[in-house]
Amino acid sequence: MHIVFLCSEYEGLLKTGGLADATRGLAQALKAQGHQITVLLPRYGVLYQRELLPEWQSIYFALGEQHYGCAVRHLLEDGISVALIEHHDFFARSRPYDDGYHAFADNALRFAFFCKAALCYLSESGIKADVIHGHDWQTALAAVYLKQMQQQGKLLQSRFILTIHNAAYQQGIAQHDFKNLGLTPDDFAAGIAPSLLSLGVQHASALNTVSQGYRDELLSEPAANGLSALYQARQSSFVGILNGCDYGRWDPQTDKSLVANYHSADLTGKQQCKTELRRQMGLADSHAHNHNGQKVPLFVLVSRVTGQKGFDYLIPALTNWLGTCDAQVVMMGTGEQKYIQPLKALQQQYPLKYRFIEGFDEDFSHQLEAAGDFFLMPSLFEPCGLNQIYSLRYGTVPIVRATGGLKDTVVALPARNATGIHFVEPAEQDLIQALKSAEALFQNQSKYQKVQQRGMQQYFGWDQAAEKYLHLYQQAQ
Ligand code: ADP
Ligand code: GLC
Repeated sequence: MHIVFLCSEYEGLLKTGGLADATRGLAQALKAQGHQITVLLPRYGVLYQRELLPEWQSIYFALGEQHYGCAVRHLLEDGISVALIEHHDFFARSRPYDDGYHAFADNALRFAFFCKAALCYLSESGIKADVIHGHDWQTALAAVYLKQMQQQGKLLQSRFILTIHNAAYQQGIAQHDFKNLGLTPDDFAAGIAPSLLSLGVQHASALNTVSQGYRDELLSEPAANGLSALYQARQSSFVGILNGCDYGRWDPQTDKSLVANYHSADLTGKQQCKTELRRQMGLADSHAHNHNGQKVPLFVLVSRVTGQKGFDYLIPALTNWLGTCDAQVVMMGTGEQKYIQPLKALQQQYPLKYRFIEGFDEDFSHQLEAAGDFFLMPSLFEPCGLNQIYSLRYGTVPIVRATGGLKDTVVALPARNATGIHFVEPAEQDLIQALKSAEALFQNQSKYQKVQQRGMQQYFGWDQAAEKYLHLYQQAQ
């Protein structure tokens, strides 16, 4: 098959979260199975430094009542051909979706432009895609534009598949903008707040999200954020396909970001990673052992700092638990200042056992995965989640809230085949209870090591997900 990805993130080119890991991981796995892959991405500001292939095209098209022109540039990323939609005013900004504080006001138009330009490029350059696979609201309008173009006899061989990585981001549209986006009121379902995502859910040939658990949650409110009726209407063809892990990038045995490598049969390297991280962070040796002389666990977290990730109850839980725990904690994230400020402030209160690093650093995210004894993922909701999957492979026992993809990938104690710890209610006390049970588990090293070892044996390769996507592509009408 010739499969074209429309996406707003791709690891190695632009990443703000797991969407980038997912588009790259899946594209590589589909290519490995012999399919032809083309990735279409906006040419963001950071991509102006990348070396391009010499050929390029210009395309012209109408969107609403406006006429636009743009260039399409090309590069190769690990053997996959990437076409970049270039429009300086729309995309050459330093961040993809916001200025660091507020979403760009013209996001609907920017990504409508991206979708329309991408489809016109495919049509004009005679690329016969069997499947056009869009990811999240940024690409959802391609479902509508493809139908419009097919009515004009263009791109007739293509089906549009939409993967929802996060249903909370929908990109609403005001009625007075319909015309600019080439839409009419008839395109929208009655009784649903107009958004780009809602149009994709309605009009895509096939639809999925990134775990079975989250797929089931989306059939009702509040998880569906107002779109439950649309998901229900498509229930029979709406599936959950769990994300994978790119073990080429996320394997402690080969990971180049680590001071020492390790594998399940010999965890000496993991201990070295922990010692190095504690040294780098200046965490006190006096707090590395409890009063019985036993080593205390290191808890780590790497996350976008948003409400989704559970910071509303994580911050009070940490404030309370850090006072009495025998543990150390290192976290890294970027995002909302209303959480980052208190997270930073906690360092003054607990300088011997707690650090928060505000930043986005890929190497450091690998180092934290390797150094930790436990990985914290207390998400309010989680479509799939990748860090808990990475944590399993790195022998860093995940503590997750039992929701969406977290519930599907981490088996909770006390089950015999447990790989981690769950808590159920999104509340301070439930999380503190989970943290305390992790401390107790760590003091029972033989039990801890069994849970750790089982986690390290789990396999979530993208090859498994790719098989399921191929099936979805074939079923799509
Ligand atoms: P989400 O996509 O909702 O952010 P996932 O768990 O699916 O959550 O994926 C998050 C991805 O982003 C992981 O690869 C994680 O390591 C990475 N990530 C998140 N925050 C940071 C950060 N501050 N620095 C480096 N990588 C980060
Ligand atoms: C989204 C979700 C996350 C998922 C990722 C990749 O960002 O929040 O749960 O793992 O997309 O699909």
